[in-house]
Amino acid sequence: MIPESFIQDVLARTDIVSLIERYVPLKKSGANYMACCPFHNEKSASFSVSPTKQFYHCFGCGAHGTAIGFLMEYSGMSFLEAIKDLAQQAGLKVPEDDAPPVDRSQISSLLDAMGRATRFYREQLKQSPKAIEYLKQRGLTGEIAARFGIGYAPDDWQGLHTVFANDYDSLALLEAGLVIQNDTGRRYDRFRDRVMFPILDQRGNIVGFGGRVIGQGEPKYLNSPETPLFEKGRELYGLFQARQAIRESGVVVVVEGYMDVVALAQYGFGSAVATLGTATTATHIQKLFRQSEKVVFCFDGDNAGRKAARRALESCLDQLADDREVRFLFLPPEHDPDSFVREQGLEAFHRAIHDALPLSEFLLRELRSGLNLATAEDRAKLVHEAKALIPKISAPVLQLQTIRMVAQDVDMSPDEVSQALGIRAPAHSKTAPRYAGRRTAPAGPLRQLLRLLSSQPILIGALPADTLHLAGDGPEAGILQVFLDAHENNGFSASTVTALFEACQDEAQKNVLGELLQASDEGRAEEKAAKEELDGHITNLRIALIDHELAALHQRDRQGGQLSTDEKRLLVTLPAQKQALRAGQKIR
Ligand code: UTP
Ligand code: MN
Repeated sequence: MIPESFIQDVLARTDIVSLIERYVPLKKSGANYMACCPFHNEKSASFSVSPTKQFYHCFGCGAHGTAIGFLMEYSGMSFLEAIKDLAQQAGLKVPEDDAPPVDRSQISSLLDAMGRATRFYREQLKQSPKAIEYLKQRGLTGEIAARFGIGYAPDDWQGLHTVFANDYDSLALLEAGLVIQNDTGRRYDRFRDRVMFPILDQRGNIVGFGGRVIGQGEPKYLNSPETPLFEKGRELYGLFQARQAIRESGVVVVVEGYMDVVALAQYGFGSAVATLGTATTATHIQKLFRQSEKVVFCFDGDNAGRKAARRALESCLDQLADDREVRFLFLPPEHDPDSFVREQGLEAFHRAIHDALPLSEFLLRELRSGLNLATAEDRAKLVHEAKALIPKISAPVLQLQTIRMVAQDVDMSPDEVSQALGIRAPAHSKTAPRYAGRRTAPAGPLRQLLRLLSSQPILIGALPADTLHLAGDGPEAGILQVFLDAHENNGFSASTVTALFEACQDEAQKNVLGELLQASDEGRAEEKAAKEELDGHITNLRIALIDHELAALHQRDRQGGQLSTDEKRLLVTLPAQKQALRAGQKIR
């Protein structure tokens, strides 16, 4: 874990404007900088970067965040990767974690070697009629070959000698996996007489290669070994090239092979990526969900494809959310995506993606397979099998839905199934609010209050003593508590909100903080006026609370719930209190 203070240091030493400028051309406009949003398609600029708040916000698509968030969203880095990247740029040393220290100069010499090799292979492709013919025969144009940087490794034991000359014996070439050293110390090229597919990481660095034999031969694909640059379980082939198309289409399709990605792109389907001959890992899924809320796994229709789908299913259950969607597409047994799109065309592929099996249905199909549900034993077996999958589903509503599907199958009630799966029945929290237990404050007035406080931190000292009590126990109250603590400890300033945003673990709170950071600081009032505004918000909060309580009381009354004498009295006194508050507001 990276300490919170370090995150704050990194943010303090990073200028979000110059960071974003490296990726997106920015134009100054008033106090802020504007650009066309890199996260959605648009013609006029609605993406704004605030140097004072060190925050970006798009008025078009709602994307927003700090420098860390920008790197994560733009280049698909994880939180940790983004911190490390920024720390390195700021010349800060990331506090020791368990991972061995990365040798930056080694990394850059390996990247350099990969870049030089790629240029060489691409050059060689131009000079090899045989390789060109092979790619043509597979339906690829020069344009697509160039887009994926496809090249050709010549049929030569030391072909790379041409580019690396005296460097051929350098450690970098060996460590990058481009050459192999035999027992006698002699070195030779790993890739010979193969069509070369460079594998890019999310920043566009070439970190590995897949090399396909031309025509028949074993192995069909030879891949780079794991190196300090390249870890198969992390990378997705084609992701770098697909980002724009994924964003535009709102879906990412995961296929099995290099050629599937390239052929789909050739036919106009640009949002496909491939795992590199390995099972889909949790890291893969994280990367995919960072690019898109909808992921479709597309597997070959054979037995191996089904196994791979099962693995993908297992890896993604604990990363699901109710606003994420995962589907599985099984092609006819004789096809892979490459042959399918070539034979049936782009439209048919789109349709197939659209009609792909939802995760819940694939899950049920897996659970049912091989069972005869006419027998009690097999029904029990189904529930037993479900125990390995359903409790892992991290999307609460989807979990409930799958429990219901299972319940129908096995002729039990959903509660019985939940119990058998060891899942606690969800609390019935959404039933009629009970007056006595009420602690949810209306979010609207509270947010306005928080917004004012974050732009005028000095007002925190002017809050009435019962504010926290009024705030209830929603995410806004949590933030108010943090504000008050910060105020007491080391002084609260506008920039604290940015730091809090990154430190915040609670998603609901984070959403509120994000909103606070987006709220423009236009129209900052004079201090006196601000105090009035503060009082206004507090009064609104009190009024909203009264409305909330009244509504709950009326509802119970209507539903025939027995109101106590005290509660009946409240039905009279609360409206009066409300009127008094309103009157006080008018006098002021
Ligand atoms: P496939 O055998 O399905 O290859 O392997 P493909 O993509 O359809 O290839 P073409 O169409 O014959 O050219 C799927 C993936 O498995 C990995 C590669 O990543 C390949 O793209 N693989 C396969 C290997 O790593 N080595 C192999 O020998 C075969
Ligand atoms: Mn194929």
